Amino acid sequence: MKRVYVWTLPSRLFHGLFVSLIVGAWITVQEDQWLSTHVAMGSAVGVLVIFRFVWGMMGPKYSRFGDFNFQASELKEYLVSILHPTRHYIGHNPAASFVMIAMLITVVLTVISGIFAYGVQENRGVLAFLHGEYFQKMDDFKEIHEFFVNLLWVLIAAHVGGVLADRLLHKTDRTLPSIIDGYKNIEGENAFLSVPQKVIAIIGIGGTVGLLMVTLSVPNNILIAGYNPKVDYKQENPVFVNECGSCHTLYPPTLLPKESWVKLMGDLPNHFGDDASLDPVDHTTVLAYLLTHSAETSNQEMSVKMMQSLKNRDMIAITQTPFWKKRHQHISDDIFKSDRVKSRANCKACHSDVEQGTIEDNAIKAL
Ligand code: HEC
Ligand code: HEC
Repeated sequence: MKRVYVWTLPSRLFHGLFVSLIVGAWITVQEDQWLSTHVAMGSAVGVLVIFRFVWGMMGPKYSRFGDFNFQASELKEYLVSILHPTRHYIGHNPAASFVMIAMLITVVLTVISGIFAYGVQENRGVLAFLHGEYFQKMDDFKEIHEFFVNLLWVLIAAHVGGVLADRLLHKTDRTLPSIIDGYKNIEGENAFLSVPQKVIAIIGIGGTVGLLMVTLSVPNNILIAGYNPKVDYKQENPVFVNECGSCHTLYPPTLLPKESWVKLMGDLPNHFGDDASLDPVDHTTVLAYLLTHSAETSNQEMSVKMMQSLKNRDMIAITQTPFWKKRHQHISDDIFKSDRVKSRANCKACHSDVEQGTIEDNAIKAL
């Protein structure tokens, strides 16, 4: 029987890792508390794609870009005669070649835009230094990232659709199984690996897996380290801690705008059904502290998003703000009423860092 070895082990491992990391990145972006894992997977894909570009230039037959088919005339001929193929392609057919290269380029752009978004919005990772200058534009950076993600889904759909079509139309070629065992039922020259190619493969695949393991296991490694400062409120303003942290979570002043704090402090005797009055000296101290550290003064994501969502309203209940409601809409009432949480306003039951002035994604406790 006709048989040809098309995909060497590194090409197949690349494919398996590529699929796993993209699926993993998609799963882990669903919940804020998994964002570091999402970034670890995205970074690993970045390294993997660099390896694939090197492999495309120096790799074995069929995996090299030189063996792809990028001629428009061939693409046309392939598509026109797709039902009655005149030619069997051993490596990538012309349509697959275009989709593959577009996919690789799109992944690069997705990873780069993701690192930008992570730096600008979260103040984390290698580009965190951009946060101070561009935090007002955090949504734009995120949208660019999402644009490339969507483009990637289109290309993945085209790739999977192509493979399925191939299975129906060119059944005997074994295109689908070949990505597992490397063989297609076509006549041709077998691919093989030279020693330098083996070395490149070990560095590329090993580097990807190694990077993933390090980013997942070393806390605060350079790819995910965060730079939002932790505040020691006790040291900064003990009166604020004693007066405002005795009945409930010590809400960071950076969570509400000046107007809200003025209004809240103006009616302490009727404070959510409690009397939280302060003597005049303490009142002045606490109000001044709240105003100098209000949401307007902070460029953290939570403050920026809170300000954007509030427009000109002077709400005093954080849990009534549109931003808070939106971020917690998928959490059921039962969880908020559970013994562990008790109230929506009990932020510290879920956000272990809130009393240090941050709400980091990786400090959200499992529900
Ligand atoms: C005597 C107890 C008491 C003291 C002292 C107190 N509060 Fe409260 N506060 C409450 C109660 C009760 C609520 C309602 C909590 C709930 O909805 O579960 C509340 C709610 C709040 C909320 C709204 C939380 C939400 O629902 O989003 C803010 C903001 C707040 N307090 C700020 C302060 C500040 C600032 C101080 C210090 C000046 C302070 N509180 C002192 C009892 C107190
Ligand atoms: C029952 C647990 C729970 C309570 C109580 C809770 N949160 Fe959250 N909060 C979460 C979860 C879970 C998320 C992540 C939501 C998601 O994945 O989109 C979140 C997200 C957030 C975010 C967005 C973080 C980001 O980086 O996207 C902010 C800000 C926030 N919470 C503030 C608060 C404040 C302030 C309080 C108290 C007034 C509070 N939360 C109470 C569970 C809770």
